[in-house]
Amino acid sequence: MSINRDQYFNFFCPPPVSVTHWDGDCEYIESIIKESMFKRTESNSISLDRRVLDNPSLVDLKSFIHAFVQRYTEKVFRTNQKIKLLQSWANIENNGDCHPVHFHPNSYMSGVIFVKSASNSPPLILENPFRPYQLSVDLFNGVNPDLPPNELSDCRRNMSEIPPIPGNVVIFPSLTPHRVPRSNGGERITIAFNSYPELPFGSEEDVTQVY
Ligand SMILES: [Fe+2]
Repeated sequence: MSINRDQYFNFFCPPPVSVTHWDGDCEYIESIIKESMFKRTESNSISLDRRVLDNPSLVDLKSFIHAFVQRYTEKVFRTNQKIKLLQSWANIENNGDCHPVHFHPNSYMSGVIFVKSASNSPPLILENPFRPYQLSVDLFNGVNPDLPPNELSDCRRNMSEIPPIPGNVVIFPSLTPHRVPRSNGGERITIAFNSYPELPFGSEEDVTQVY
């Protein structure tokens, strides 16, 4: 009988996606958002206010999100580096709207809070930024359903869907490509945001300091 001594090491993982939940009143947030003017883009509607979370009426939500990003930084990067929330804006998708694939330059972690969703509102789709490495050998002959998924196979997927549950806040590395597929449901409202380390950060010694 052969002995299986295989070991697997996932040495180089991208920073994870994290989700938490805001217990506050999403209908109140919606009412504040709707005081803002919106402009129509080719795909959806976006608030003209690009600092939505700086509205004094949303101070509790902003500090909740800020604390979440700070906890993430301490856990994932093992540092007490202070992080600042940057711009934030509201998106509204109605039936037929979508949000094409994009990423957020000049930002550390980006995220979104789902404020309002219909039962058939589309998810947020995060695409695997490492897909080109997997396509070096594209195993197009398919997945064998007899081989169960595991923690190694899970990170081989092309994309992941985050359901738009109102009150949920999701954060992801800002250069992760993401999109919202075309909606065939009712109104879907989100607030998106960016963040960046407070200055200074990096190492004087290693000549990586930003100040
Ligand atoms: Fe985005």
